Amino acid sequence: MQTIEHYQNVFLDFLSHYKIVKEPKNLYNPVDYILGLGGKRLRPVLTLMASDIFGEDYNKALNAALSIEVFHNFSLVHDDIMDDAPLRRGKETVHEKWDVNTGILSGDAMLIMAYQLFENYEPSVFQSLAKLFSKTALEVCEGQQYDIDFETRDDVTIPEYLKMIEYKTAVLVGAAMKMGAIVAEASENCQNYIYDFGRNLGIAFQLQDDYLDAFGDPETFGKQVGGDIIENKKTFLYLKALELANKEDKNQLEVLFAPNRMTNEYKIEKVKEIFINSGAAEASRQEIQNYTNKAFAVLESINISDDKKDVLVQFGKTLMNRSV
Ligand code: IPE
Ligand code: MN
Ligand code: MN
Repeated sequence: MQTIEHYQNVFLDFLSHYKIVKEPKNLYNPVDYILGLGGKRLRPVLTLMASDIFGEDYNKALNAALSIEVFHNFSLVHDDIMDDAPLRRGKETVHEKWDVNTGILSGDAMLIMAYQLFENYEPSVFQSLAKLFSKTALEVCEGQQYDIDFETRDDVTIPEYLKMIEYKTAVLVGAAMKMGAIVAEASENCQNYIYDFGRNLGIAFQLQDDYLDAFGDPETFGKQVGGDIIENKKTFLYLKALELANKEDKNQLEVLFAPNRMTNEYKIEKVKEIFINSGAAEASRQEIQNYTNKAFAVLESINISDDKKDVLVQFGKTLMNRSV
């Protein structure tokens, strides 16, 4: 096994040789822009790690890793349109820098490009990767639709929220790992266990994302802090606060999330106060820990050496303590 930084560097080198910019420029420049904005590259790193764990040269997993990263960035371009988000990785979002139509079409192109990268694999591996990709991509769409539907619903439950984040985020983390296992031609059992590890880690990751959306440091977070509150997102923080807050705070929270004439600054400040005072912020940190532990528990069932497990555990712990 290598260090996480090593897999990151190998991936970044591969990405830098990926030819994107062609004509028409207004289609491909945004692709180049979003892929070049950086980010943690955690999904492709997980693909490379998984192939290495199951005994394959991780260089063979680079095209699958890139496919996952291109798909992920495609989903961000469209997500930022849907969430009306001004910032991504500390820079203007694609639809802000260009316009909404450009974001739609460049995103479409990226989805095709992601799929095209599987052409680098021989037929049986191609088929397995394509099958997993299609299933996962549809689930991501389902999760995104639930996320949007929940904005205007006032009866969303915590199990529904958890299902939503599993679909919009966690299945792709699971798939990233499973693709590494597919390239390594690991047994179906191993493929499924590593998928489950990634899926649980992905749920923890999105819970953390939602936590940071409210409590992240605007200097380093890279997205608009409070964006979920502005958009009335029914996050774990919100749902847990409704459950735990006293009657007065619960009412206030509902008023804050109903159509009103408050400024965004005021709304964000008040909502965050209720998130903290109700104990929802603390409960959210606990839930992140729970799902990270669930991921670690899956590792018990996988027949790989302890030093390989350690790298995955290290990765999970780093994610749990991240601030961006
Ligand atoms: C994004 O979810 C999920 C997908 C892009 C499929 P969010 O909307 O919660 O993520 P951020 O906060 O914009 O990154
Ligand atoms: Mn979204
Ligand atoms: Mn978003």
